[in-house]
Amino acid sequence: MTIAPQHTRRTVLKTAALAAAAATVGPLRVFDAAAAAEPASRGIFGYGVASGDPTADAVVIWTRATPPPHPGDPVATPGSGLGRPLPVHWEVARDPEFRDRVRHGMVRTSPDSDHTVKVDVTGLDPYTRYWYRFRAEGETSPVGRTQTAPDEPGRLHALRLALVSCSNYTGGYFTAYRAIAARDDLDFVLHVGDYIYEYGNGADRFGPADLIGVRDGVPATETIDLTGYRLRHALHKSDPDLAAAHRCHPWITIFDDHEVANNAWASGAENHTPGVEGDFMLRRRQAYQAYLEWMPFRLPEQQAVPHQGIRFFKRFGFGPLGDLSIVETRQNRSPQVDVPPFTRTGGGFIPVGIPGVDAQLADPSRHLPEPDQLRWLSDGVAQPGHWHLVGNQVVLTPVRFPGAALGAPPNLTFLNSDQWDGYQADQAALIAHLGAQPPAAGDVVVLTGDIHSSWAMDLPASRSAGYTPVGVEFVCPSVTSDGFYELVRAALPAGTPTGVVVATTQGITGAVAGTNPWIRYLDGIGHGYTVIDVTPDRVQADYHLTPRPTAAQPDPRIDPALEPAYAISWQTLAGSRRVSPATGPVGPRHDTPTGADR
Ligand SMILES: [Fe+2]
Repeated sequence: MTIAPQHTRRTVLKTAALAAAAATVGPLRVFDAAAAAEPASRGIFGYGVASGDPTADAVVIWTRATPPPHPGDPVATPGSGLGRPLPVHWEVARDPEFRDRVRHGMVRTSPDSDHTVKVDVTGLDPYTRYWYRFRAEGETSPVGRTQTAPDEPGRLHALRLALVSCSNYTGGYFTAYRAIAARDDLDFVLHVGDYIYEYGNGADRFGPADLIGVRDGVPATETIDLTGYRLRHALHKSDPDLAAAHRCHPWITIFDDHEVANNAWASGAENHTPGVEGDFMLRRRQAYQAYLEWMPFRLPEQQAVPHQGIRFFKRFGFGPLGDLSIVETRQNRSPQVDVPPFTRTGGGFIPVGIPGVDAQLADPSRHLPEPDQLRWLSDGVAQPGHWHLVGNQVVLTPVRFPGAALGAPPNLTFLNSDQWDGYQADQAALIAHLGAQPPAAGDVVVLTGDIHSSWAMDLPASRSAGYTPVGVEFVCPSVTSDGFYELVRAALPAGTPTGVVVATTQGITGAVAGTNPWIRYLDGIGHGYTVIDVTPDRVQADYHLTPRPTAAQPDPRIDPALEPAYAISWQTLAGSRRVSPATGPVGPRHDTPTGADR
């Protein structure tokens, strides 16, 4: 979803509501996190390097290799479909100097893959740091650092990740990615969606006006075809902070809606106009193609689990500590419930308590993930184990928004029909299933993004004050995308003192939390990331947020020097299945991967 009111295609309520209220060329270099802030997209390896989907013995390594044009040849810019094929050598070592090389090979890239290169490097040791690089026509890529998963039978290791979502390029500087790159204590970065946005630089632009001409989208218009999506991915890979975060850690990613178009469902999207923008299914195929080319994403076995379409969902193991299921909730979802004039096609905030609307929301024939995937997820969280983490796109916990907090009539209550709340049969079935699991099944921690704000919530078995919690959900803030604070600021008269904007935002989020007693924490102001740390005793979430807006700097996203900093911690204790406060940020890991001292 997108929460932002100015867009011409935004829902009525969204507007009304808040109105009321690495370098490439040159000599071979060893790994250097600080060196990532160099102009990208120059030379053969100008879009940097990345790695992803780490398992016990494998990791995907990625780059884009732009062939130097022969005299008279066109330049193989992303999306161009031009350029000659290029052989690319790759190598993986146990040390950043590549003295102890363990794997190497050669692949050939071409315009067919937009000159991206992806190698699934296998035969590696578990819980071990590796370094990798590429070489072509005398040039060597930046050196990337990666790591296999802490996944050994019977051996308990530390597990720590950075949870991120919603990184709109025009929304601000990617200082969250810079802060993540600087950390040495992460097993991987988990991006749960909206890695790119499809919008252009015109009336459909999101983000601070201060960045117009400074951080513009490429292409300048909405991405609707293969060329557009490839260019948008290339833009992101050329950001020095994002490039650094890819260079320093493996990533596990899953797309949400904006990798295709806002509030997408199985056969359309809120931000897709058939006839004007072409066939949606063709658009989506091209968006998925660009995603798979440009992201270090491994497709799982196609036939292992029944499903509809491309099997993007997957599961990672972490020895006796537990597992991580990555769900995908766009490809097969039923259309969102719309309630004109509050929403048009594609859903959004809709009033509830209206018989026809409630019946649609509860209709068991409507689905978020397809039934086979929901069954796969349900089976996974029921396996005897410790922690079952779930990487998820849209909020699972039931959340009701009081009309007054949205600037709507106070006698109305709203929900967001693009979230699990809009698919209540699936939501109820999953929550009931979690509640039915015996202690031996372990506990579920849902890790979510999408809503551009920071939340810690109990998953309630029922929406009543005396609810029984059946698990928890931690929601990370956006990296840059507009959240509650930006919406309020845009809705209030220009020149409203920053303190008033902050207080108004807190009033709204406070009212939302007050309406849903299972919300233990909700911040609608900061941007950044969330560190998730897993031990046998607890899962802790540390929220790292940008500094509070001030009169001098009412929008910290436009200051490239303002990195997120530690703000607050929440946790869930093993067996409690509920959120509780934590005393402070996580300390050093209790163990480190082989090679981490290099
Ligand atoms: Fe988003």
